[in-house]
Amino acid sequence: MDNLREIKEGKLYFDGCDMTELARTYGTPLYVMSYNGIREPLEELQRDFVDKYPGARVAYASKAFCTKGMYEILKQMGTDVEVVSGGELYVAEQVNFPPEKVEFNGNNKTPAEIDQAVRYGVGRIILDGLQEIPLILEACKKYDRKMKITVRITPGVAASTHDYIVTGKLDSKFGIPLEREVLLPIIKQIVDSEYLEFMGLQMHIGSQLFENDAFLDGLNIVMDWVDILKKELDVAVKEVDFGGGFGARYTDEVRKPYRFFLDPMMDLMKKRSEEIGIPCPAPVIEPGRSIVAEAGLTLYTVGQIKEIKGVRKYISIDGGMGDNIRVGLYQAEYDGIVANRAEEEKDDKVCVCGRYCESTDIIMTDFMVPHTTKMGDILATFSTGAYGFSMASNYNNNPIPGVVLVRDGKSAWMVKPQTYAQIAQNQVIPDIL
Ligand code: LLP
Repeated sequence: MDNLREIKEGKLYFDGCDMTELARTYGTPLYVMSYNGIREPLEELQRDFVDKYPGARVAYASKAFCTKGMYEILKQMGTDVEVVSGGELYVAEQVNFPPEKVEFNGNNKTPAEIDQAVRYGVGRIILDGLQEIPLILEACKKYDRKMKITVRITPGVAASTHDYIVTGKLDSKFGIPLEREVLLPIIKQIVDSEYLEFMGLQMHIGSQLFENDAFLDGLNIVMDWVDILKKELDVAVKEVDFGGGFGARYTDEVRKPYRFFLDPMMDLMKKRSEEIGIPCPAPVIEPGRSIVAEAGLTLYTVGQIKEIKGVRKYISIDGGMGDNIRVGLYQAEYDGIVANRAEEEKDDKVCVCGRYCESTDIIMTDFMVPHTTKMGDILATFSTGAYGFSMASNYNNNPIPGVVLVRDGKSAWMVKPQTYAQIAQNQVIPDIL
């Protein structure tokens, strides 16, 4: 991914485009996504997973970055998608994403969302609620459709990552608890229904993981249940979904290739399937962050600079927590550069802060910049492609920035910036005033 970022004549380039010029052309704050940066991990997955293991599928986790343009890239690459809301599904529908390549997940799907998913004919519904089946059956009858169902379970393993993004531990709102009297009747109900086809089990351990132990522990538990289902219900699980969570590089982490996680998981699944006496289930993964994080950066214009003698120097930017909540929410760390001074010596330690009325609106705390950095310069923060735009907010009525796609020196809007009028468009003065 490093080859996408280049420094030429003292300026930062990303996927062949001059970031200083891009900022002047499109305005800031601005999310920038690199086409080749998105394509690279998808090609790695094709080579090291889809082409290697029979039936393997990649369902990109839309929550990381969901836009029509992103779905178009996935469509062209033949990748499936995972959606977790009617809103994400709506965008997929807007680009005619092949319905059978959409998986619908979520721990509290509303009746309207289930109706929407069944009407569109999504490829899988990932069951994650004890009372979901009657809602799915109702929609199946309405549209006379049979649905493929995967069941999300909570493997009860703790992954080493920020506590807010651990999802697979026992005490979690996600997944069906692993208790015979809970899980077996649900699966029996699916198997017995003429409207439902039971596909298999899904887990998701957590996000931003760099070690494989939690994945393997989780998979072992899933395979214990594959065994139980075979013995007790004579059901052969056809698919096992490992979830997402593969780590991306923000500062000095070293990104592990997908095969580091997936080859040992496949070895384990094959071995356990042989012992159980069933064909090895088809593997599915749901990566989000590892596909888009490093493919994105954010451009800001430097504004006010304040030095508190002996304490700290603050550099203000024209964005902040509204376009990147991850620092305030997870103490996430980012790296970046002053795009128009990319070759100058970084000799000044500063704190980069946003323009929102909140003390936690900090983007980088001890960040080195050239001492010449001044108002009007362009600051880039790296690896903002995942959970940046998708978690953006209108706090302080600041518009959500636009997204530009860059590709081999070319650029085009992917999402236009929000306007003040769009922020206020649904506001009305109540007629009881
Ligand atoms: N599948 C399921 C069921 C998930 O819950 C998630 C993420 C993924 C796949 C994708 O995980 P990834 O490959 O992106 O790590 N907002 C947080 C991350 C929350 C992740 C929630 N679930 C952040 O900014 O770090």
